[in-house]
Amino acid sequence: MKNIVILISGGGSNMAAIVKTARQEHWERRLGARVAAVVSNKADAKGLVFAREQGIATEVLDHKQFPSREAFDAELAMVIDRHDPALVVLAGFMRILTPGFVAHYAGRLVNIHPSLLPAFTGLHTHQRAIDAGCKFAGCTVHQVTAELDVGPIVEQAVVPVLPGDTAELLAARVLTQEHLIYPRAVARLLSH
Ligand code: GAR
Repeated sequence: MKNIVILISGGGSNMAAIVKTARQEHWERRLGARVAAVVSNKADAKGLVFAREQGIATEVLDHKQFPSREAFDAELAMVIDRHDPALVVLAGFMRILTPGFVAHYAGRLVNIHPSLLPAFTGLHTHQRAIDAGCKFAGCTVHQVTAELDVGPIVEQAVVPVLPGDTAELLAARVLTQEHLIYPRAVARLLSH
């Protein structure tokens, strides 16, 4: 069985979309893959509730309890590796990862970013797209490399930026597309 470990920090709607798609599309039977664990750096991440309800193992590792980024990432890798992951999926995991962590998961670490990369790496992507006068925005699933929000693109989806859009309205429009492309990208990566 190919184990998927999903890392979240908050709502976990992308994680939930992957879990639901895995069930609907019978990933266990068709891909020999399953969501084995959901890991959060925040104990109050809402997504943990959903994961527990689904009977998925959950783990919390509070980055504030660690003296350095390296120490947190080393423990995080230990927690993840207990689940023998074929793929580690960053789904709204709001931590910058150390080069050592990224290297450890080379080729099996993916992220979703709420912009059409390489445009708008980093934070506040929707407001920045609006401020730049973009007519289109979107989201990107990419392989994770040492540099933040850079790395080979796996999937993208495009949405229009509409007159009068706020960052919240645009984020919601983009998020519906994230929920479509992330499960699709994960399935594709696991079927190789
Ligand atoms: C998503 O929009 C995701 O693209 C973004 O955080 C949100 C998480 O939502 N990720 C980043 O900004 C990464 N830098 P979710 O917790 O409901 O999946």
